Amino acid sequence: MKSATTTKAKATTRPISTSFKALSADNLDEVVAIERNSSKSPWPAEHFRSSLENSNNLSYALMLRDKLIGYVIAALALDSADLHNIAIDSRYQRQGHATKLLSCLVNELGERGAKEIFLEVRVSNKGAIGFYKSQGFEQISLRKNYYMKNSNDRTDREDGIIMRLEIATTENNNAL
Ligand SMILES: CC(C)(COP(=O)(O)OP(=O)(O)OC[C@H]1O[C@@H](n2cnc3c(N)ncnc32)[C@H](O)[C@@H]1OP(=O)(O)O)[C@@H](O)C(=O)NCCC(=O)NCCS
Repeated sequence: MKSATTTKAKATTRPISTSFKALSADNLDEVVAIERNSSKSPWPAEHFRSSLENSNNLSYALMLRDKLIGYVIAALALDSADLHNIAIDSRYQRQGHATKLLSCLVNELGERGAKEIFLEVRVSNKGAIGFYKSQGFEQISLRKNYYMKNSNDRTDREDGIIMRLEIATTENNNAL
């Protein structure tokens, strides 16, 4: 009897197809929902709205097909930028999405002449600190008691870490 030949179906991993677009006021509901779900002190909708209206700010949405799964907002002043917010829907974290989003932002900032990015993060936000370190940010200082821990008790506070990332521009590289 002929032995049966079995052909195992080869497992294929399809890359998740994501894209970027400029964040707009039409995305506010999705953004606020992610923010409430992921942040200890979520920005209110008004904060996002005024941020979107500020022409010094750059903001991108990360789209998984038609679904918004993350966003980043930064402000650019001359050759220095401040990262104001970044978040990924908790169901899509640890899949490299924030890395892609940050890289999109850093490229755009570099093209607009930024040489460095600063940010502030709560000492208790270990996940975000781990992410920023993985992207090359370095701690440059500590702001004692910078953040309120509890909105009902103004004395219950925690430190903020200031981090910085140098943006590698062609100009910077040529100077080496
Ligand atoms: C911080 C945040 C944006 C990271 O998003 P993400 O898409 O999960 O990040 P990535 O998948 O691109 O992670 C890249 C690397 O960052 C590091 N990292 C990410 N999340 C981490 C965590 N929770 N703990 C430790 N390291 C972490 C890891 O080195 C990771 O690589 P690995 O998964 O291969 O180990 C996301 O956790 C988030 O939305 N947090 C809530 C909002 C927030 O705190 N924003 C910052 C405000 S200051």
